[in-house]
Amino acid sequence: MSKLGEIAVNSINNGDCIELLKKLPDNSIDLIFADPPYNLQLNQDLYRPNNTKVDAVNDQWDKFDSFKEYDSFCKKWLAECNRVLKPTGTIWVIGSYHNIFRVGTIIQDIGYWILNDIVWVKTNPMPNFKGTRFNNAHETLIWASKSKNSKYTFHYHSMKCMNDDLQMRSDWLIPICQGEERVRVNGQKAHSTQKPAELLFRIILSSSNVGDVVLDPFFGSGTTGAVAKRLGRNYIGFEKEKFYTEVAESRISKVIPLSKELLEYKIEKKKPKVPFGSLIEKGYIKIGENVFSKDKKFSATVNADASLCVGEEIGSIHKMSAFLLKKTNHNGWDYWFVNRDNSLLSIDYLRKLYEEKYLNPSVDNALFTEKKYSRLNESSSNFLVS
Ligand SMILES: C[S@@+](CC[C@H](N)C(=O)[O-])C[C@H]1O[C@@H](n2cnc3c(N)ncnc32)[C@H](O)[C@@H]1O
Repeated sequence: MSKLGEIAVNSINNGDCIELLKKLPDNSIDLIFADPPYNLQLNQDLYRPNNTKVDAVNDQWDKFDSFKEYDSFCKKWLAECNRVLKPTGTIWVIGSYHNIFRVGTIIQDIGYWILNDIVWVKTNPMPNFKGTRFNNAHETLIWASKSKNSKYTFHYHSMKCMNDDLQMRSDWLIPICQGEERVRVNGQKAHSTQKPAELLFRIILSSSNVGDVVLDPFFGSGTTGAVAKRLGRNYIGFEKEKFYTEVAESRISKVIPLSKELLEYKIEKKKPKVPFGSLIEKGYIKIGENVFSKDKKFSATVNADASLCVGEEIGSIHKMSAFLLKKTNHNGWDYWFVNRDNSLLSIDYLRKLYEEKYLNPSVDNALFTEKKYSRLNESSSNFLVS
């Protein structure tokens, strides 16, 4: 069994998540799903009109003395989650009106970047028995990347396909967990807030890849682990109640992973690669100009055949960056910069401009605005212009 820091991959760990999170290394997790205590503040038992007691969430783990105490708890686990999340990773946090606004502020204050809020519309919500408020028929999920400019995983085309070729929307109609799906022990619900597997299916499928590690710091009955395993992902669960860890262990042990063949994202369009030579042909990079390392310590001259010269050494952008870094291999796209208007511009950025203009001019992927091209356009018609 492989390990991340002190924590085994595909394991359920009994204990407080803040302490357990500390045992994971920085930047080690691909996806986090967190279903924390909602701090529901239910002070008394709830009864139906026929006087039967409602099976509401009244567990000890959901109780906090004050908002201040709840916020302080959330700040700690959300900060730790940010630390362990890979730069390409994302976090999903689910909550209700009781806590989600507080959680949202904390998420932004820590430096995560909110990508969407998803409304889980319950097709079969529990009624408002007292008839004193609107029927509370949804929960909210915040989806956020580690920071503002993170390049995160999102299987856009697969989500669109799941939604009959219409863009997947931010309101998801999914029934609450009941019937066969409910995990029971001696006929009783094993967990009061077991989430529907469909919710996790959509989350894990949209924002992770086969083989990724999915962390759930509030594992409960193990819904995240069960879906992760089925979808060929790895999981790590933290759960402070021993009973729930046992429930989750037994639940996950019965799950059989789908075959890799069925899990491939065949519908996601593979982006055609732009080679360095194409940037030269289109004039984004001039034959004879110098490219630089980020600290400007090294420079190289660009030849017509897209090779770079450093003194007597000649090679591709990759070979020459590896040569200067005294490594066997290196990705030259991350290493070289050009001088434009007295500032350094990465060649990878030029490649994105090229992709955006010539390969993918749709609105779907409109990462770069017209304004951003215009600065280069005058001089970038092709290699005939010097
Ligand atoms: C809302 S439930 C999660 C339910 C889960 N998503 C499922 O589908 O079963 C929250 C869980 O977090 C656990 N928990 C609460 N505080 C915790 C903490 N500090 N560390 C680890 N687990 C905690 C509770 O015992 C509870 O099982």
